[in-house]
Amino acid sequence: MSKKQENSYLTAIVIGAGMRGSVYAQYAQIYPDRLKIIGVADPRKFYRRQLQQQFNIEDKNCFSDWSEASERDKMSDCVIITTPDRLHKDPAIAFAKKGYNILLEKPMAVNEEDCREIVKTCQENNVTLTVCHVLRYTPWAIKLRELIDSGIIGEVVNINHTEPVGFWHFAHSFVRGNWHNEAKSSSSLLAKCCHDIDLINFWMAGRRCTSLSSFGHLSHFNNESKPPGAANRCMECPADVESKCPYSAKKIYLDQIKQGDTGFPVCVIAEEPTMESVTAALKTGPYGVCVYDNDNDVMSNQVVNMQFEGGATATLTMMAFTKSVCTREVKVYGTKGELSCKATSAPVIQHFDFLTGVSHEYQAEPQMVKGMMGHGGADFHCIHSFVNSVANGDKTTISTGPEESLGSHLLVFAAEKARKEKRVVMLQPDGTYN
Ligand SMILES: NC(=O)c1ccc[n+]([C@@H]2O[C@H](COP(=O)([O-])OP(=O)(O)OC[C@H]3O[C@@H](n4cnc5c(N)ncnc54)[C@H](O)[C@@H]3O)[C@@H](O)[C@H]2O)c1
Repeated sequence: MSKKQENSYLTAIVIGAGMRGSVYAQYAQIYPDRLKIIGVADPRKFYRRQLQQQFNIEDKNCFSDWSEASERDKMSDCVIITTPDRLHKDPAIAFAKKGYNILLEKPMAVNEEDCREIVKTCQENNVTLTVCHVLRYTPWAIKLRELIDSGIIGEVVNINHTEPVGFWHFAHSFVRGNWHNEAKSSSSLLAKCCHDIDLINFWMAGRRCTSLSSFGHLSHFNNESKPPGAANRCMECPADVESKCPYSAKKIYLDQIKQGDTGFPVCVIAEEPTMESVTAALKTGPYGVCVYDNDNDVMSNQVVNMQFEGGATATLTMMAFTKSVCTREVKVYGTKGELSCKATSAPVIQHFDFLTGVSHEYQAEPQMVKGMMGHGGADFHCIHSFVNSVANGDKTTISTGPEESLGSHLLVFAAEKARKEKRVVMLQPDGTYN
């Protein structure tokens, strides 16, 4: 009997009640008949309490560390693991061993060995694992794959994909924020573009990547670029220097509050963001540090060049210095035509046919559910798919399950090896690389 028939809703514990944990929890707010949040683990009391109050969670099911929850007898159907990058593997393994179905934020883990261990443990314990490569669940990404599979552009010869991170967004997350230092979190290719490598792999529709190379650089956000006279903190920077800096924390955060907006990224800076609390956080916390004077070391611009079986190639460009914020752009070149798409909130896929010279547009709008519109609606589509698959006891409907996600992560690790060792890396059929 499927879970759905036994019970009207699935139950879940949120492990890491920060930005992502609270986004996925919204699904239970919107669809209480499908998902109920019955537990939460987070060392940050404010965020743990917030979720506890929102979902009326019993005190005994609120934990200050994931391990306390995992030590208990199994309490729910699922866990939603949204802890920091370096804290995915241990909870994923512990909860898989207890038989929980797992929605796991990307990256699965920060190295190959840990990713493989997660996959093995989930398989051995026969639990559902969905990795949050959320973009895979968007109608535009799925429609693009359908069009490729239909043969409408003949044989795929090249995919050219760009992830424009956004100048202020990069400064926020990858210079000052959680993902600024590889040893403390992960490389920017893994943190930001495991989505994009995964998409390219998906659109290549079963063709195997055989070799790749990668180049990258940490441009501008380094000490050599620091303007003369600049202070170590924006709040202390001389006005004539600060006013000329597009990355000034005053501009990125305080100007946003002045416009009455306390959403992302301001909401990350303080528990209850106001002009006073954010100003105080900028005076002492990580988000007020000069972008030219930090221990950030992740790449600000990187390219990955890939060759696939049969000769098709793909290029990925990750770029910090853009106006656009994560509005991905892709072109797929085939022997008989071309497809292109810009992943706006209302994406349109354009097709041009070489024989007829006719262009056609396909609409691929996501379902925009209030409170879950992140990543152009992708966050909703991802957890919706996970909940349906667990409820129906059908793992086949998951497109970012253990093996598929492992395959994409291995490509990212191989690309990082190629970049660091300045050479072409060859990939074997079993995913190993050298
Ligand atoms: N799928 C996507 O597109 C996407 C987007 C952004 C972030 N992410 C990933 O999601 C994860 C979470 O990112 P975030 O932005 O929500 O970060 P966040 O810092 O807002 O949230 C992480 C939470 O985990 C909590 N935590 C830390 N140690 C813990 C422990 N021992 N037990 C339980 N909880 C603990 C922290 O206190 C924090 O509240 C990261 O791995 C990140 O890379 C994915």
